[in-house]
Formats: sequence, C-alpha cells, structure tokens
Amino acid sequence: MMDWTDRHCRAFHRLMSREVTLYTEMVTAQAIVHGDPARLLAHDAGEGPVVLQLGGSDPEMLARAARIGVAHGYDAIDLNCGCPSDRVQSGAFGAVLMRDPALVAACVAALREAVAVPVSVKCRLGVDEQPVEETLPRFLETLRAAGLRAVTIHARKAWLEGLSPRENREIPPLDPALARAMVAAFPDLAITLNGGITTLEGVRAALAQGFAGVMVGRAAYNDPAAILLAADAEIYGQPAPFAGPAEVAHAMRARIARHIEAGGRMHAITRHMLGLFHGRPGARTWRRLLSEGASGGLAAYDAALDAVGATPEGAGAHGAGQGA
Ligand SMILES: Cc1cc2nc3c(=O)[nH]c(=O)nc-3n(C[C@H](O)[C@H](O)[C@H](O)COP(=O)(O)O)c2cc1C
Repeated sequence: MMDWTDRHCRAFHRLMSREVTLYTEMVTAQAIVHGDPARLLAHDAGEGPVVLQLGGSDPEMLARAARIGVAHGYDAIDLNCGCPSDRVQSGAFGAVLMRDPALVAACVAALREAVAVPVSVKCRLGVDEQPVEETLPRFLETLRAAGLRAVTIHARKAWLEGLSPRENREIPPLDPALARAMVAAFPDLAITLNGGITTLEGVRAALAQGFAGVMVGRAAYNDPAAILLAADAEIYGQPAPFAGPAEVAHAMRARIARHIEAGGRMHAITRHMLGLFHGRPGARTWRRLLSEGASGGLAAYDAALDAVGATPEGAGAHGAGQGA
C-alpha cells in the first residue's frame, strides 16, 4: 500500500507474523529501471516472503524491473491492475488495464519469461461501465492463456473518473460473490480475495469458500495485533511470535535505536506503529506519545513503552489502562 507498506512497516509486520505474505508498495517499473533501484528496493534480509508489486504496462520495461527486483531478493512479482490512477507519461497502469486484457497478457508473459519466481496480478472486478460478469472472466481467461496462475481480486469496481483513490476503495460496492464465481470457473487459478475483510474470522470464511488466499489491507495496518499477531496461530496453526503487542513494541526498540543512530527519524518507523494497541488499554496514550515524540529520539519511545507497561522496569507501574 502506497506510503504505508514501506520497508519499516514490513519489518514491523514481519515481526508479528512469520507466515503471512507481505507486499511492497506499488513501485513503477520505470522508476526501477531509470531511477535508483537500490533505494527503492532496499529491504531487510529477514523480511520475506515479500512480493514486489510493479506498476506499468510496457512488457519490456516490466521484465527489466522484475529482473532487478528479483536480484534484490524479492520472492515474487505482482502486477498492479487495480490502482485507479490516471495515465502517466510511461503509458497506462493500474485499473485502466482492466480494459486491455491482451496488453496485460503480454505483460504477464514477459514477466514470466524474465523471472523464475511466481508472477501474479492484482485486479479489480472491472472499471466504469464494464459489464463485469462478462469482462472479468474474459480478462482472467486471457491472462491464464498467457500463463498466469495466481490473481488477487479486489472485489469492487474502480471508477476511473469522478472518484478519488480513497473513494475508489469505499464507494463502489463489494461483490465477493462474483469473485467466488471466478473460483468456480477457474479451478486452476489460485484466486486471492481482497476488499473489506477486517477480521481473521472473515479470512477463515473466505478460505472455506475455496479462495486460495485472503489479502487484508487497511485492517492489518490499522489493527496489526488483531490481524497479524494473531494470524500465525489462528490461520497457520503455528505459535505466535510474541505474547502480545507490548512484547512487539519492546522488540521494535532495537530497530528504532539503530535507525536513529544511523541518522534517521524515529517517526519513519513509529508512524506505522500507531495502531499497535488499537482497542486495548493504553491505545490513546501510546498513539499520543509516539506522535508527540516523533522527533524526540529514543527517550520518547521509551516513554511510550513505559506507558503501556512494555519495559521490564515500567511493567504495570504507570497503569497501562490510562487514557485508553
Ligand atoms: C494507503 C493505501 C495505499 C494503497 N496502495 C496500494 C498499492 O500500492 N497497490 C495495490 O495493489 N493496492 C493498494 N491499495 C489498495 C489495497 O491494497 C486494497 O486493495 C484495498 O485497500 C482494499 O482492501 P482492504 O479493504 O483490505 O483495505 C492501497 C490502499 C491504501 C489504503
């Protein structure tokens, strides 16, 4: 998710779940090929499995970007066909590609030839006035013929004009039943459901319906303890890496200290952690102390840890329930 799932966010999320697949923000193929790939693609060694999501529609450029991405250690490549952005200089990318399955198929074929890692597509049901019951299966059929084996469907349309990107995540109605129909129609495609799933119960329900996976976006970011920290035990049958959010907060301290020592701003990491205590005692105090201490250095982080009882010395001493 653009501006959200950067490397610091992903490191934080990986700490909470060893099992889930993480995705980068969308990075345009052009930026990777002509820009500064070392900066754009830098990530932690232990962050995988992590999928590099590319934006673009020039098969040659996408192939080059994918090769560079794999050389930087990414585990899979995903092509964005869901972002409701306008055309950019490099051509069309994102949801507008739902209108051009042949071009997306050419992109998929080029990506598959360029890299040995899995290649997937993230799409919408369709765009604008498309009759999606007809156009979505045609889109998937064309991509499957190009060798696509995995697709994530954000189960709502995108409106390319008149709605902001944010409105395009909220206003077009969700239609998971159509995505489910695609599971039945394309048994050889691994179809992941996305859109509006906010609980692990919802994840389990979608898996029980035959989806190969479930992608959780905003809920995982806004309430990571409920989704990510619980996922290993509840979805994968593995032990949770930490007992609770306080332990996660404490474990993040070393990374924050290293980042500050290297000249970075604490906020670059802690801005992704504001929701860690969402709905729990201390949530509001945690959020406030992290926000106020954004440039305050490690002492500010320690004060926030202390407030939620996350440091051994401070455990419970300051009343974790304050300000919840
Ligand atoms: C801030 C933000 C940035 C996003 N950036 C991307 C992106 O780069 N690529 C993408 O495929 N989807 C992006 N999305 C859409 C989400 O991946 C997801 O499809 C959408 O939020 C619906 O899922 P959810 O209801 O679980 O959040 C973004 C969403 C948000 C809120």
